Amino acid sequence: MKKKSIMDYETVALDDDKHALVIIDQTKLPYKMEMLELTRQKDIWNAIYLLQVRGAPAIGVAAAIGIYLAAREIKADTWEEFYPQFTKAKEYLDSARPTAVNLSWALNRMDEVCRANRDKSHDELIRILHDEAAEIRDEDVRVCKSIGEYGLSLVKPGDGLLTHCNAGKLATVKYGTATAPMYLGQERGYNFRIYVDETRPLLQGARLTAFELQESGLDVTLICDNMSAAVMKNRWVNAVFVGCDRVAANGDTANKIGTSVVAAVAKRYHVPVYVCAPTSTIDRNAPTGADIQIEQRSAEEVTEMWYKERMAPEGVKVFNPCFDVTDHDLISGIITEYGIARAPYETSFQEIFAKKEAAAVIQSGDFAASEG
Ligand code: MRU
Repeated sequence: MKKKSIMDYETVALDDDKHALVIIDQTKLPYKMEMLELTRQKDIWNAIYLLQVRGAPAIGVAAAIGIYLAAREIKADTWEEFYPQFTKAKEYLDSARPTAVNLSWALNRMDEVCRANRDKSHDELIRILHDEAAEIRDEDVRVCKSIGEYGLSLVKPGDGLLTHCNAGKLATVKYGTATAPMYLGQERGYNFRIYVDETRPLLQGARLTAFELQESGLDVTLICDNMSAAVMKNRWVNAVFVGCDRVAANGDTANKIGTSVVAAVAKRYHVPVYVCAPTSTIDRNAPTGADIQIEQRSAEEVTEMWYKERMAPEGVKVFNPCFDVTDHDLISGIITEYGIARAPYETSFQEIFAKKEAAAVIQSGDFAASEG
């Protein structure tokens, strides 16, 4: 029997029989493929906080399923009794991580649907929330595929591509964002050479990206974070593809710590840098990168995690931001599911969101027609 590969597992899913959020425990990879079934809100919060499920889109899907599961458990006879409990559960999940806007985006979307259906029976409302969570999940697959197609149009067979952190299958439902052009290219015989930054301090590049791309049969070379200049100077890299946790209205982009270093080096060597961003990651309420809250994490991630013995003197001060902001002038294009945005990003995003709204109108028209 063929051994199951990472592609056969779902990063994040809902088990309707067990009423559980099912995730791959990413803290165990690449050694162990362990699935977690989570039903309690505290466990779902912890899974997001501890990065058992991580990557902006995957966190959004997990939160949507999480709030649906929370709503199921609410005992209330009236909307007035139900909604405050729903809001409390929503705020709790939202507090798990601050930078990836997909978390609050998905929860707000579930909240809107909940309020729009306040006059429905409890059972009907729960069914609607279930379907919305499933739609957020399914949408992620379509969005990533579309990003992959746009991304693929920017490169050619045989190219060397560099990526940082994990914006792959493990950060989404299926294709990933930054890896989507790589997977689609592989299906079409592009023979890319992929350089993967190990991504200190939590090694998402080494543990997750190198793992999933290699399992999928791509040509992967792992490098330490301080080697990107060496590979770019050698002209081995034709384009950089990265994901993002929040994009500000001016195109400044928060992504895994170290992304801005890669972008600065790439500019020096004239390598284009593409940020792959579902529109759910674009926060037009944040005017610039300075308005994005950056998660700070514990010193131990830098000083002792992964080492047999502590690798820094006791008591040394540590700065450990989880993300950094890449200034928009270092970015060659922001690839969304509705096309590639270019500077000036304010204008470009307006066009992208106009396309998204037009598509939603057509879709609701199709739906109305099919209902009528
Ligand atoms: O701290 P993480 O592992 O959640 O950080 C993830 C990233 O920075 C990803 O690049 C980003 O979320 C985009 S995932 C498609």
